[in-house]
Amino acid sequence: MKKLVLLLVAGLLCFGQATAQTPAGREHLLMDFGWRFAYGHPFDPKQDFYNGTGSFSYFTKTGYGDGAAALGFDDRAWRQLDLPHDWAVEQAFDPKASFSHGFKTVGRAFPQSSVGWYRKTFRVPATDLGRRLVLEFDGVFRNSIVWINGHYLGTEPSGYHGFRYDLTDYLNYGGDNVVAVRVDATMEEGWFYEGAGIYRHVWLTKTAPVHVAPNGTFVMTAPAGQGATITARTTLLNDGSSDQAVEVTQEIVDAAGRPVATSAAQPLRLRRVGNQELTTTLPLPQARRWSLDDPYRYKLVTHVRQGSQEIDRYETMFGVRTIRFDANQGFFLNDKHITLQGTNNHQDHAGVGAALPDGLQDFRIATLKAMGSNAYRCSHNPPTPELLDACDRLGMLVIDEVRMLGTSALHLADAQRLIERDRNHPSIISWSVANEEWSVEGNDIGARLAATAQLHVKTLDSTRAITAGVSGGWGGGISSVIDVMGYNYIAHGSTDAQHAKFPNQPSMGTEEGSTYATRGVYLPDPQQQYAVAYDKKGLAHSIEEGWRHYAERPYLAGMFIWTGFDYRGEPTPFQWPANLSSFGMLDLCGFPKDNVYYLRSWWSTQPTLHLLPHWNWPGREGQPIEVWAYSNCDEVELFLNRKSLGRQPMPRNGHLVWQVPYAPGTLEAVGYQAGKKALIDVVKTTGPAAALHLTADNTTLRANREDISVITVRVQDKNQRLMPTANPDITFQLSGPGKILGVGNGDPTSLEADKFLETIRIVPLGKLKEKPAESLTPPPDLTAAIHNDASWAAAFSTRPANALPAAPLPNAYVYRTSFEVPPLDPAATVTFFYRSMGPEQSVYLNGKPLAENLADSKEGAVFKLDKSLLKPGRNSLVIIATPFVKKYSWEGYNTDPGLLQIVTPAAPWHRRAFNGLAQVIVQTTQAPGNLVLTAKTPGLKPATLALQAKAAPVRPSLP
Ligand code: GAL
Repeated sequence: MKKLVLLLVAGLLCFGQATAQTPAGREHLLMDFGWRFAYGHPFDPKQDFYNGTGSFSYFTKTGYGDGAAALGFDDRAWRQLDLPHDWAVEQAFDPKASFSHGFKTVGRAFPQSSVGWYRKTFRVPATDLGRRLVLEFDGVFRNSIVWINGHYLGTEPSGYHGFRYDLTDYLNYGGDNVVAVRVDATMEEGWFYEGAGIYRHVWLTKTAPVHVAPNGTFVMTAPAGQGATITARTTLLNDGSSDQAVEVTQEIVDAAGRPVATSAAQPLRLRRVGNQELTTTLPLPQARRWSLDDPYRYKLVTHVRQGSQEIDRYETMFGVRTIRFDANQGFFLNDKHITLQGTNNHQDHAGVGAALPDGLQDFRIATLKAMGSNAYRCSHNPPTPELLDACDRLGMLVIDEVRMLGTSALHLADAQRLIERDRNHPSIISWSVANEEWSVEGNDIGARLAATAQLHVKTLDSTRAITAGVSGGWGGGISSVIDVMGYNYIAHGSTDAQHAKFPNQPSMGTEEGSTYATRGVYLPDPQQQYAVAYDKKGLAHSIEEGWRHYAERPYLAGMFIWTGFDYRGEPTPFQWPANLSSFGMLDLCGFPKDNVYYLRSWWSTQPTLHLLPHWNWPGREGQPIEVWAYSNCDEVELFLNRKSLGRQPMPRNGHLVWQVPYAPGTLEAVGYQAGKKALIDVVKTTGPAAALHLTADNTTLRANREDISVITVRVQDKNQRLMPTANPDITFQLSGPGKILGVGNGDPTSLEADKFLETIRIVPLGKLKEKPAESLTPPPDLTAAIHNDASWAAAFSTRPANALPAAPLPNAYVYRTSFEVPPLDPAATVTFFYRSMGPEQSVYLNGKPLAENLADSKEGAVFKLDKSLLKPGRNSLVIIATPFVKKYSWEGYNTDPGLLQIVTPAAPWHRRAFNGLAQVIVQTTQAPGNLVLTAKTPGLKPATLALQAKAAPVRPSLP
């Protein structure tokens, strides 16, 4: 009987046909907004919302997701948030935490903050019945389990790959649906900060049963003369239960939206539950090339039609360009020689951890480009798609890298996911199949693994070069089989010897640098664990030594500095409390260290002249200070207080040094080009800090709940000069429709918070005991705060769970429990999210009635508690309820009275400046209006900054 009822329900839910109103085409809906979040626990089921504890749980039968995975789970007390979200960045620091991950309290030693649960309720209209609905995650760190309406969908170990689940058959059409995600960040994948949680976008994609497959196009371009031939390989799927005839046309649209090529309609017959590949060749008589200066893109639009109706429209952005690595001459883009001036980067930023809003991708890529960089290595994992979009749009070449070398089915499938997702990006010039695989890189196993991985990659995309970052065993191992040799650090061997041994193998420096520099620090400060910002040797060579090696050898295609930006974790060579790496050319906020100007001098054609250090050295009068100049001028002359200290020719790829006895005043560099004054850089001794100053990269924002402004906070003297040593603690307040996403300052030893959020503590109510009662009004002593209930039975233990009760039930039950309340912050609010314990009930807290004769409701009741009702320590809860009566033996009913939620408001946002600078990231809401950011610190003139959020469409999304 039970099975029959379930089957009928399932039949109604699953096998519907498209109705007249079913929308025909594709919808790609952002699913980032309005999630619920709470911490679970890796091994204590009580703290993990009892997930996986049922005698029948989610592995047993479909629909048996229990605890927080269950459809009916009460998540009202959980925190509400929007994605992307990284809970690791919200944690405190602890010396017992992971060095490589920046000492945030996530990992084995911190089970309370290593598992996170996310739930989202969303409506699916009845008219969607008959479409395919697919839930897509761009990346979750890590080991995620996903359920829909209590049905187990799968487990994804990777913290970096995108993955998807087809929800079609599981959904409740015309009603609510709940997706639950358990994320377990206990284990690390990399040796650098990786974040924790759903830190990339989530999507719901709806299509007709016949549609272009996910990542189902591969656009290849063959430029010739002014034009190009475009070959598109497209996979179509028919997920429906009958064969379908469709017609496919493809058109190419230019950046202005004009169609520039269209294919003839191609009739196709798609077998049910089948797929078919289609190859279209389209000539483009005039094809504008994608290049670094003109990153021009076209769009391939695939139209799938059935009769007069378009049933799918699928867009693929691509660029027309050629790439070529040459063993003797390096790299060519569109047959033009380009020296790869690259940076390696991880994926976190100040204030937000790994959960970057899309705008921050653009900010970071633009910042690297401004330094003269033209290439980006995604070390050491598949990046978020928005990073690649930013590189496509802004003109940045990319090495896209797998997380780990391997050739098991898992590794090959991971490489396939990466390549099929990313192969239309014009920015990507190379796939990297390995990075410093120390245990194998120099031996035969490494050679075999890399050769197989490389072969596999070529079957998926033969248009890109395949590389690996290799740090040893050059001459053998991986270096003997890889198409394009990637040198990780010239300290490990001779690139000349490798080139002589493998003269047909192109090569480049996949990592070089790993030097330590702290922004604005010029005297060694081992106590503070700061490194000087002069370009000194780090692990091996200085940046200049590294760059000279690559710049002087035409056979090398260029090099990738370790790293563009600082990142959390790997504070080498320092120890706790240092928690950021110091390898970056830019700090964690993207504020330039002086090395940026060395690279800009030799990597870009922008006239550059930069002096270091700052000129505030009170107490060191008369002592020599090392003054460096970075410039691409022919000569530089240095003046102190207008007195020349000498004019020196600038060595190519070098820098200049003067020893200058300190005297306060003005240090001035004059750059000469062909003997003529061309540039000036001035560094002045500042007065005391007088004021704060705010500037934004963007003051007109889109009110679309995603747009951001990256705001620089400066500490200045009264003449608006940056105070290079000022570190005041600055408080920020934002008014208007927006929120502060995070704050930072780039200080590698700062233990300050990046986020100031209200804290939500959920107090579980203890085990219930019960006693039968005559009516809903029992003798008052039963509801009193203190009552000896030692003889009472465990609640529900006297009623069989899987059968109808043998004897009639009493009129009512009294349930008692107690729970522990921590000392409460005076500003805290306490809410009791109550769930019905019977058709009618009364609820008493510490003997005082909260509600009497309350009727059953599916939603439960919400009691905002007067804090005087509670006391620190033990508190009592009594519920008197008429019993739920079962109709069928298998019916369940609620046995859980709910949760107490304690919300402590956030502390005001604040952050110290570090050597004069701090950063605030502000994000819009959906409301247009004026925003004002105020920065204050005692003794200095405060600053305000006005931003405007203009009405803008929110992209298609689920509410
Ligand atoms: C390399 C490694 C990088 C980073 C760097 C630090 O060996 O590939 O991920 O750890 O060293 O110097």
